[in-house]
Amino acid sequence: MIEVENLTKDYGEFRAIDNISFTVEKGEILGFLGPNGAGKTTVMRILTCFFPPTEGKAVVAGFNCFEDSLNVRKRIGYLPQRVPLYEDMKVSDYLRFVAAIKGTPAKEVNRKAAKVMDDCGLGDVSGKLISTISGGYRQRVGIAQALVNDPEVLILDEPTVGLDPKQIKEIRNLIKDLAGKHTVILSTHILPEVSILCGRVIIINKGKLVAVDRPENLTSESSRRMFLRINGNAQMIERELAGISGIKEFETAQASGEANGYIVVFDDEKRGRPGIQSMIEKNNWELMEMRPLETSLEDIFIKLVTKEEA
Ligand SMILES: Nc1ncnc2c1ncn2[C@@H]1O[C@H](COP(=O)(O)OP(=O)(O)OP(=O)(O)O)[C@@H](O)[C@H]1O
Ligand SMILES: [Mg+2]
Repeated sequence: MIEVENLTKDYGEFRAIDNISFTVEKGEILGFLGPNGAGKTTVMRILTCFFPPTEGKAVVAGFNCFEDSLNVRKRIGYLPQRVPLYEDMKVSDYLRFVAAIKGTPAKEVNRKAAKVMDDCGLGDVSGKLISTISGGYRQRVGIAQALVNDPEVLILDEPTVGLDPKQIKEIRNLIKDLAGKHTVILSTHILPEVSILCGRVIIINKGKLVAVDRPENLTSESSRRMFLRINGNAQMIERELAGISGIKEFETAQASGEANGYIVVFDDEKRGRPGIQSMIEKNNWELMEMRPLETSLEDIFIKLVTKEEA
């Protein structure tokens, strides 16, 4: 549904995105992750035909974003990061207007606008001027205008930013329900959002693609970190831990009472675990606690992004 090939974008001298390639299958929800300035919005702007790439190509629903932009634009809904809205229109009028200019047949305009207002929780403000509604409601109107013509492809630049927790949940459910029928790319800084919504995630940093995978694969290193609490002489424990094969590294963690805490990172867990067991038996120490540590998407993200920078 979406093909991006060797995409590069320069702003003058500055290379904002650098040779990025990926594809998105029909019905997939793809997450875009990356720190501020990574290039997420720039990629989205190319996909929505806002400007052409410097090099490479982007194809959406079979149409080239640069050569055939009208056909692309007909098939996408776009929520920009900063939503431009017609301030002096009422919410309901604006959504009917957007539905109409996006080619919704006249007799369906009212129904489509009403449905999207309902889906996005806009009932209470439908008669208000856009200039008078609060920030979170503006965001909802932005999402509503992207959805109103039921587009094949949705490009959502930080869709849940500025919403209250209840609305975040509702909008996430809305996006989740789009999967299958619609193809969605969304950018976010909220890492749990990616795990909840996205089948796959792309991490970009400084314009470069640093990882593409399913969120669960990115976090599947989890079993390789372990929290230990051991009753025994701290210095001796540390010396022993350092000598166990299968343990890559460890750091001391919060001690509690008699027991010292450690976070152990394995490079070979099958060898490392028995090593710990026999160390404890040999020294007559007491193992108070041993549990795997979840590697969060946060950790993975920081690791990938800082590795790039190193
Ligand atoms: N019109 C422009 N002219 C010059 N530089 C630009 C322009 N638009 C973006 N940039 C630069 O390109 C880089 C990528 O910006 P972009 O907005 O794509 O990042 P982003 O990943 O969306 O960041 P954020 O998470 O802050 O939204 C940034 O360094 C930005 O300053
Ligand atoms: Mg952005």
